[in-house]
Amino acid sequence: MTGLLVALAATGALITGYARATGTTPPTAHASAPWWRGAVIYEIYPRSFQDSNGDGRGDLRGIEQRLGYLQWLGVDAIWIAPMYPSPQVDFGYDISNYEGVDPRFGTLADMEHLIRAAQRHHIRVILDMVLNHTSNRHPWFIAASSSRDNPKHDWYVWSDGKPGRGPNAHDGRVPPNNWVSLFGGSAWQWVPAVHQFYYHAFYRQQPDLNWRNPEVRRAMFAVMRFWLDRGVAGFRLDAVPQLFEDPKLRDERPLGGVNAFGDPILDQSRTGDLPEVHVVMRELRRLVDAYPGDRVLIGETYLPTIQDLDRWYGGARHDELQLPMDMRLGFHGDHDHLDAAAFRRRIMDAERDLHGSEPLFVFDNHDNVRSIDRYGDGVHDPMINELLGSVLLTTRATALLYYGEEIGMHTTPPTRRSEVRDPIGIRGWPKVKGRDGERTPMQWTPGPQAGFSTNPRTWLPIPADHATINVQTERADPDSQLEWYRRLIALRRSEGALRDGRLRMLNPADPNVLAYLRSGHAGGGIVVAMNCSAVARTVSLHLGDAGARRVAVETLLTNAPGLREARSLRNLTLPPYATWIARLRGRSSSSASPR
Ligand code: GLC
Repeated sequence: MTGLLVALAATGALITGYARATGTTPPTAHASAPWWRGAVIYEIYPRSFQDSNGDGRGDLRGIEQRLGYLQWLGVDAIWIAPMYPSPQVDFGYDISNYEGVDPRFGTLADMEHLIRAAQRHHIRVILDMVLNHTSNRHPWFIAASSSRDNPKHDWYVWSDGKPGRGPNAHDGRVPPNNWVSLFGGSAWQWVPAVHQFYYHAFYRQQPDLNWRNPEVRRAMFAVMRFWLDRGVAGFRLDAVPQLFEDPKLRDERPLGGVNAFGDPILDQSRTGDLPEVHVVMRELRRLVDAYPGDRVLIGETYLPTIQDLDRWYGGARHDELQLPMDMRLGFHGDHDHLDAAAFRRRIMDAERDLHGSEPLFVFDNHDNVRSIDRYGDGVHDPMINELLGSVLLTTRATALLYYGEEIGMHTTPPTRRSEVRDPIGIRGWPKVKGRDGERTPMQWTPGPQAGFSTNPRTWLPIPADHATINVQTERADPDSQLEWYRRLIALRRSEGALRDGRLRMLNPADPNVLAYLRSGHAGGGIVVAMNCSAVARTVSLHLGDAGARRVAVETLLTNAPGLREARSLRNLTLPPYATWIARLRGRSSSSASPR
């Protein structure tokens, strides 16, 4: 586990609580459901997806070239990580102009072209929106830090500090409190010109905006309109729980111990998820709701409990984000491992405690070691990846996929400090290796540079396993991970029960096999069973109602060859990590065939 997740886990922001294990939710979907309900959203790290001009970095035209692939895979929308002009200290998450495109990635015209081209492929485009901070090279910050009298000064979070000495002292003053940056060190940076410190939750090159200033709000809302007017389908809101800080700048409570950067672990009670942020979320929701087409707000919400997550939807009012990410399912903390009971509890928490809202599940992103390397055992990795994909794509949720997840790409961390590109890794080496490992170029072919670029020097090296793990090879293999993901997505489209049916856990006391029934509104039911253990398990699934015990089934998709011909729910033998998906017979009609 690396980077942001390490920082968050170390500060206690990750997930621990569980609730009850079984139950049934009311159906929520209907014919007029917004497009994002049950959709598959695919995250693209633009530097690493496809290079169209041979400079060794991915770009917008590269993404456009791959739209055919994304349509074939069946994704409904792409979320593109920041492509705005930026000094690239945090690879785009330090934005110096919100209304443009970094020349490394293309032009504004390329972006507009990409949005239109994606529409023709029935794919929507979602942008990453960094509201919490700008680059220190943004004209707003350059003005703000030039003088205390500058009208932009109050757009950022400043403090005179307090009298003191020591390594952080400047002119006899030290930071006002004990807050630390999620990326290591004090969260305060001294600016001699104004004789003050500014606050930065992330790198010092990412000063936090002051969301208590109404002009900041207006400016950022205008930026979002700029893109909504150009047809984007919504935003993924970066680091959004961090928008507000305690106005009194009080210390945070140390929880004991230090994190990987050697900083004290604090409770984040003064810098994360303050009540004020929810007022802004409601305003933002009204802003997107004023546009046609169900524009969507996705939140990067690492939150410890399901109740916290529910608040980000607006609870029973449903008036904040439509899709705050549920990080509790896919990111368990330091010790991710397959655990049927833990998955069951977390899925049911989301089923029951979100006031009927749609969960957004995710196993992978550009900040964390890839799930295959967190959950994999090095022996059954393809099966484990297929199992994770099955949890993601057969539960009642919108699904976030990260590029390469569908082919089983691994994390390839740098082996020497001199190779590290992510500043977190340079600072934290060797304990924290940074996030380069999960950002390596997409593996398209077994050929040179994996088909990613014509340039022999790519921004991060191409992993050697591209010889076997790549789109071209896997497309030709009906038993590949890619084919598994494609078929799962297709099944989700063709089977209403899978896309928006109710979910009921089966055999809820089983410690090894995670199984549930999805039942459609128009009748029809799909059973999913996954063996989360390294030994074969034989189970009989109990539907619970008397007549169902003898129900006949038809396998739709399985990676357990012995179950292709299964005819009932009794005595099913699932090999290690195998998945079996079957239709209760006579209740639905689709032409999907077993693998
Ligand atoms: C989010 C992004 C991460 C970035 C950070 C600061 O967590 O996912 O990549 O470094 O915000 O913007």
